[in-house]
Amino acid sequence: MKIVHTLADLRSHLNAYRHPAVVPTMGNLHAGHLALVRQAKPLGDITVSTIFVNRLQFAPHEDFDTYPRTLDADCEQLEAAGCDLVFAPKEAEMYPQPQTFKVHPPGELADILEGHFRPGFFIGVCTVVLKLLACTQARTALFGKKDYQQLMVIRNMVKQFALPIDIVGGETQRSADGLALSSRNGYLSPAERQQAVQLSATLDTVANALRANTALPPSDITRLEAQAMQSLNSTGWKPDYVAVRRQADLQTPQGGDALVVLAAARLGATRLIDNLEV
Ligand code: PAF
Repeated sequence: MKIVHTLADLRSHLNAYRHPAVVPTMGNLHAGHLALVRQAKPLGDITVSTIFVNRLQFAPHEDFDTYPRTLDADCEQLEAAGCDLVFAPKEAEMYPQPQTFKVHPPGELADILEGHFRPGFFIGVCTVVLKLLACTQARTALFGKKDYQQLMVIRNMVKQFALPIDIVGGETQRSADGLALSSRNGYLSPAERQQAVQLSATLDTVANALRANTALPPSDITRLEAQAMQSLNSTGWKPDYVAVRRQADLQTPQGGDALVVLAAARLGATRLIDNLEV
């Protein structure tokens, strides 16, 4: 596996390939990222992973400075998973001058849910993803379904810009107790880690209620969301949202749609997100 830090080295290495399959990451990798790398393997003639903690997608009060940077361990794991090439640029390589050209995704997709609670987040994500896809000459790119809204926003960006890139979603990887794997799980204290299962359990409860009655009226769906928020609140979480949305566009259900339940909640100082397709 080759590790490059500059665009020039990346380009010269990619010269020999026609179909890079790319897994963009911010590093501090876990089994979810590695599953994406394995999924990428048969989808291209070279498997590339990028590792870049993207300042543009962090608000000033968020964890940009403390986000774990674990390049050596990440590269060892990537190599074992079959990655061929790692692009791990420094900030000055990705943003040699202030990134004043930015991608502004549409509000109906990107100002709801995560975008509502993290204003500007998807501008930062879209801008860096567009740039990383261009740098890596991706023909296929893979993103985890744990960041469900991110996957949807990126899919739509790639479609509207007519980029010749297939966007592929990877299933969420979970611990045995159900907690979705996330780099931010590492922030949890042992006690919080035990409690963290409540997030996926709450999503399960909502998803099971929806499966049991596929024709629930909107008022009942709103009640399920409120009960789920309440149950998280009562066990010490601070939920931002528990929302039942249409899988297709993340808008509120109108009846007969394939649904997804999404949640974001804070446990102590750690904010976790998760979702379940119904
Ligand atoms: O999901 C992530 O790790 C990041 O948002 C991404 C897609 C690598 C962009 O920085």
